[in-house]
Amino acid sequence: MSSFPQVRMRRLRRTPALRSLTFKLRVHPSDLIYPIFVDETAKVPIPVSSMPGCFRLPIEHLANEANKVLDAGIKAVLLFGIPSYKDDEGSSAYAEDGIVQKAVRFLKREFGEDLIVMTDVCLCEYTAHGHCGIIKNGHVDNDSTLRVLGKVAVSHAQAGADFVAPSSMMDGQVKAIREALDDAGFKDVGIMAYSAKYASCFYGPFREAADSKPKFGDRRGYQMGFGRQQEALREIELDIIEGADIVMVKPALAYLDIICLARSRFNVPIAAYNVSGEYSMVKAAAQLGWVDERAAVVEILTAIKRAGADLIITYHAREAALWLSQL
Ligand code: PBG
Repeated sequence: MSSFPQVRMRRLRRTPALRSLTFKLRVHPSDLIYPIFVDETAKVPIPVSSMPGCFRLPIEHLANEANKVLDAGIKAVLLFGIPSYKDDEGSSAYAEDGIVQKAVRFLKREFGEDLIVMTDVCLCEYTAHGHCGIIKNGHVDNDSTLRVLGKVAVSHAQAGADFVAPSSMMDGQVKAIREALDDAGFKDVGIMAYSAKYASCFYGPFREAADSKPKFGDRRGYQMGFGRQQEALREIELDIIEGADIVMVKPALAYLDIICLARSRFNVPIAAYNVSGEYSMVKAAAQLGWVDERAAVVEILTAIKRAGADLIITYHAREAALWLSQL
């Protein structure tokens, strides 16, 4: 009685009603986080050529953008800034009137608690050399970068950010930021840590969007090597100890094993970043008529959630929210 022909797996798949009875995994719009690029120099939205449907926005367009996000049922945005000025320290990353600080102030004034405003905390968009930290003797120096990251996080908190998201992969960055926030009185500002961030070719389109390509070398001295699995769990564990409220695995699609392992090991919320290159691949194939974009996106996001992610950061968020609500 324990196998075919008595056992027939297809019984549960026979009709749409039966299928919906046993199909429980759904991605909800509120699981999604929408990344937004704010550009200090833009007068009108500038299309990102390698990411169709994505733009670098002037601050004046943020209200419209955030309204669309909220209308879709999405609760959170993740802000990236493109400054008008870069130097070796990335000082415009922590300027009081920096582009992200202005954007956060604007969004919190307009939308208050309805919109969760998260900010990427990194230096690569703000440094002239394009690396995620301070360069000393030709290398990205960990400990002097921590001090700057703390200043960036505090400046975002002062502007009203709900969550800061450190992404530079410096050792001790979560601890440094938690301490800086607490010392400045921002005990309720949370940290979503880019904990297991791999050195990935899938960030290529983002670097066009954010103008953050390193001018020399690459990021393998601080981001993780993609052949490594257990190291990701160690990174996540350390970030939890240092005070991360949410941990992240990035990219998502080629790293579902990491999401799955993290889920089975840890009990904090796990975010997965469905990165720019993953978005662009789907867009390109859809434009060529090679995949059905809507079906592909729903399948990909469901797979990321099935692997164990609670939250998904995706450039498809707005379109996906609509498609998911129509399932
Ligand atoms: C900043 C940062 C990057 C991404 C998010 N934060 C780029 C990088 O590490 O080079 C990539 C996001 C994406 O590709 O969608 N360090």
